[in-house]
Amino acid sequence: MPSKALPPITPAHMDTLLSGTRMRRNRQTDWTRRLVRENHLTVDDLIWPVFLTDGENVRQAVPSMPGVFRLSVDEAVREANRAAELGIPAMAIFPYTDPDLRDETGSEALNPDNLTCRALRAIKSEQLNVGLMTDVALDPYTSHGHDGLMQGDTILNDETVDQLCRQALVQADAGSDVIAPSDMMDGRIGAIRQALDSQNHRDTQIMAYSAKYASAFYGPFRDAVGSSGTLKGDKRTYQMDPANTDEAIREAELDIAEGADMVMVKPGMPYLDIVRRIKDQFQVPTYAYQVSGEYAMIAAASGNGWLDHDRAMLESLLAFKRAGADGILTYFAPAVAEMLAGDQ
Ligand code: PBG
Repeated sequence: MPSKALPPITPAHMDTLLSGTRMRRNRQTDWTRRLVRENHLTVDDLIWPVFLTDGENVRQAVPSMPGVFRLSVDEAVREANRAAELGIPAMAIFPYTDPDLRDETGSEALNPDNLTCRALRAIKSEQLNVGLMTDVALDPYTSHGHDGLMQGDTILNDETVDQLCRQALVQADAGSDVIAPSDMMDGRIGAIRQALDSQNHRDTQIMAYSAKYASAFYGPFRDAVGSSGTLKGDKRTYQMDPANTDEAIREAELDIAEGADMVMVKPGMPYLDIVRRIKDQFQVPTYAYQVSGEYAMIAAASGNGWLDHDRAMLESLLAFKRAGADGILTYFAPAVAEMLAGDQ
């Protein structure tokens, strides 16, 4: 077929090709792509969030998170052993609290025999090389679903901090390795650090949810812990406005000054700019939480055949590494750990 005459290549374009730079050279084979790869995802990057429920031999599906289950303590112990076998460094545990045990002040949070503490003791007794992280916030325990104590419609900051210190101590006593305050009250990191130190928990680490945004992506988590039906209003007086970035830097700076060993950004994928800014600014261990809604999006789309599950999962996790995260809390942790083990 006779082709139309093409316009001559302009000198500027010709220069690029003649200069010798051809970006595609490094991309042409698998071995060279591996050789020039800047970021890697490994099992050491993973923290596995797990939901707990009462009973024995219970694996209760969370409908808005296909593939995720609420586990009774014995099942959680089994999964902790699986984490150890896979080499996952840490798990984060979240309780579904019986609605009858929820009240205005979240008093069940201070019960040394609550679900979280029972799971801590049971998993700890296995002496696994797996760190246990616990969430400090009142929302799984309050009848109103908020993270703090309330007077009318107002969250009482300082009274809440006092309650959170007690919650952190109850968890540390039961064996928590990493206290992770997700409540976003002002001053809680310093107060919890002091409380832990005063009770011989000097070695208990703190991972601060430093930049936690008031996000729509927590929906499935609230289903999993049973707070979606109960939550009155929203959390915008304590969680951050998704429009802000400087504020995240100030939050992280305060938490680090107050004694946080590690900081976290949450949600993950829509906030990679925040991960990068915090990592560049402070050079402290920085984590991202790929939250329930992010998991649900990938699980739902791939369940419908609209995305390739494994590729979307791996790409989403690698993006955190590229943004500078030292690790990722992800519900994909066991799946991705299995995949990485298979690659070896
Ligand atoms: C509780 C808490 C939440 C998440 C972790 N800890 C929910 C919330 O703040 O409403 C969300 C995690 C997820 O969506 O996966 N303070």
